[in-house]
Order: sequence, then structure tokens, then C-alpha cells
Amino acid sequence: MNPVPSSSPPRLALVTSGGDCAGLNAAIRAVVIHAVNTHGWEVIGIREGTHGLLFDPPRIMRLDPAKLDFALLRRGGTILGTTNKGDPFCFELPGGARTDCSPQMIARLRELGCGMMVGVGGDGSLAILRRLADQGGFRLVGVPKTIDNDVGATDISVGYSTAVDIATEALDRLQPTAASHNRVMVLEVMGRDAGHIALQAGIAGGADVILIPEIPYSVDSVARHIHNIRKHGRNFALVVVSEAVKTREGHTVSKHFAGGQTRLGGIGDYIGQQIADLCQAEVRVTVLGHVQRGGPPNATDRVIASALGVRAVDLLAEGKSNRMVCWHNREASDVALEQAIATYRTIRPEDTLIKTARALGICLGE
Ligand code: F6P
Repeated sequence: MNPVPSSSPPRLALVTSGGDCAGLNAAIRAVVIHAVNTHGWEVIGIREGTHGLLFDPPRIMRLDPAKLDFALLRRGGTILGTTNKGDPFCFELPGGARTDCSPQMIARLRELGCGMMVGVGGDGSLAILRRLADQGGFRLVGVPKTIDNDVGATDISVGYSTAVDIATEALDRLQPTAASHNRVMVLEVMGRDAGHIALQAGIAGGADVILIPEIPYSVDSVARHIHNIRKHGRNFALVVVSEAVKTREGHTVSKHFAGGQTRLGGIGDYIGQQIADLCQAEVRVTVLGHVQRGGPPNATDRVIASALGVRAVDLLAEGKSNRMVCWHNREASDVALEQAIATYRTIRPEDTLIKTARALGICLGE
């Protein structure tokens, strides 16, 4: 893209960063339509988080509302690409050495004439973008997205609602087969250290047991609960386990990959084995994995992404910066980015849904 003449419209950089989720394209669409059609700006999409800025020529795409795919609103993933690896301040080069790439990225943004950025990301990505904006002197507004729903300054993040729907649907599908075969079905869901997906999907999907990282559990309690269910004449059970739930010895369960990478995964098998041993039950384990992140966004995610995308553009138009848009009390609102990043939110013992689960007789493993 050619250097920007001084008379040209303001340019907004748009980035999706961190793990993808459903609703990112809906957010992109909202930002592009509102920034271009209402404010007359140009929108430059940066590819693969901020990594696209490291290439020569930079990997970018000019985003024009007239040329957007008509089905974008309903498409999963992100047309910009994203990455949840590689902090630009400590960027891993092919040989393994690490370097600070931020000056290069900032220089590239200046060449592109982007004095503003909308960054769609989770807490980690937004913290990185904030540091980049501070250093580069461009104005930044963040849009929260994460299936984990752990960004505390917003009631809901883009992607979460769809992930809960998918996990709930999995329970809807597991229940009849559990009943047909008299089995205990264990469903392992994502969420990192936050049990939001497990708790909501577990309640929505009629789980008998929900294990989340925030509440210590005993397998004996789980086994007792399953025994009780059987005593009352039902010979199957549904168990939801959040991926960061620990073993009896207090360790998270991870899978190891080439290059020394480890990722959470496997606690479902661990719990399933314990239940099989203690209850003499036939157990099957389903690990839902990235199915929770892909696919079309549900209506809630489309709406939240659209409202937050529009609000992000409006904040920049009002001259604001260093803010994160959020959903609160049925409204799109905003908070200081610093505060948003600091308010990581897992489940608290006094949360309504914990009380709800207990009142419904769901075993939380206590
Ligand atoms: O943070 C979102 C999330 O989907 C977590 O729930 C999960 O632990 C992780 O990302 C998976 O990351 P990756 O895409 O690197 O496997």
C-alpha cells in the first residue's frame, strides 16, 4: 500500500489477536461498516494479529464495506487471521533467539498512516496491544473476545455464548446415548482457569456433576453422587469437567507437543478413570476442544460483537483512547483498558450460578 497523502481520510488499523472464537467476523464487519460509512475513515486490517506488520510488504487488507462478504456476519474464525503465540516484545525468531519487534511494528503502522487501532482480543492480547499503543503513540480501543469469559470488566465477551451453546449441545447429544447404554459420560470443556463454560453448559445441559477449577473436589463425593443417582433408579450420568481442574495430587493435566509446547487437556480421562474404578461404571469421555471456538456465531455473539464494534469506533471518533468496550446492564459501555486487563474474572463461590447448581442438586465435587 502506498504512503498516505496528508489529505486522505483517517486510517484505522484493525487487529484480531489471541485465540479465535465465533463472532470475530461480526465484530470486524461492524467496525468496518461504521468506521467507513459513518465516519468516512479507511480501515486497514492487519493479518495474524500484529504479526502481519513484520512482513515486507506488510500483510494487510484494505477493508471496504462494499466488498465485504455478505455472509461475514455468520462466518466462524476471522478473515484477518490471528495468533495466540509470539509476544512482539519478546518475539521468537526462527533460530529460537528472542527479540523486541515492537519498534518495527510501530514504524510500519506509522508508514501505513494508522493513528488509531481497534484490537479485538482477550486479556493477554489487549495487554500487549496497550503496551504497543503506549510506545507507538497511537490511539487504541479494545473489544473483548474469549470463549473463557474471564475478562472481568464486561458481563460477556465475544465468543463465549456460542461456546456455551456448543457445550450444551454436546450434553444434549450425550444424554440419550448415555441413557441407552447405562453409561457415565464425561465431557471435558475449555475455559483455562475459569469454569464459566463448564458451569453454564452444565446447568443448561442438565449435568449431574460439574467440576470447575475454582472449587476443589473429591472424587469420592462424585462417586457418592453417582451411586445415589443409581440408587434412585437412573443408571446413567452426565459429568462436565473444565480443562484446568486438577488431579487429586493438585496438578493440572496437559498434553505435550513437539517443540516443548504444552496445552491443557486430559483431565476428562483422569476423572473418567476414577469414576469407572469407584463406581464400577462404564464410562466414556468426550473432549470437546476447538469445536467450541469454530463455526458460526450464535445470535447473542453476533449482536454483542456488532454492538461492541460500533461502540469501539464511536469512542475513537470521540477522541478517546486506551479504553475497552464492554457489555454491562444491557448496554455497550466502556472502561479504562488498564482496569479491564486487571480484572481477570473466574467463578466466585457466591456467584448466582453456583447457588443455582447446588439448589438443583448438581454435584460440584465438594
Ligand atoms: O483461551 C481460549 C482457549 O480456547 C482456552 O479455553 C484453551 O485452553 C486455549 O485457548 C487453547 O489454545 P490453543 O488454540 O493454542 O490450543
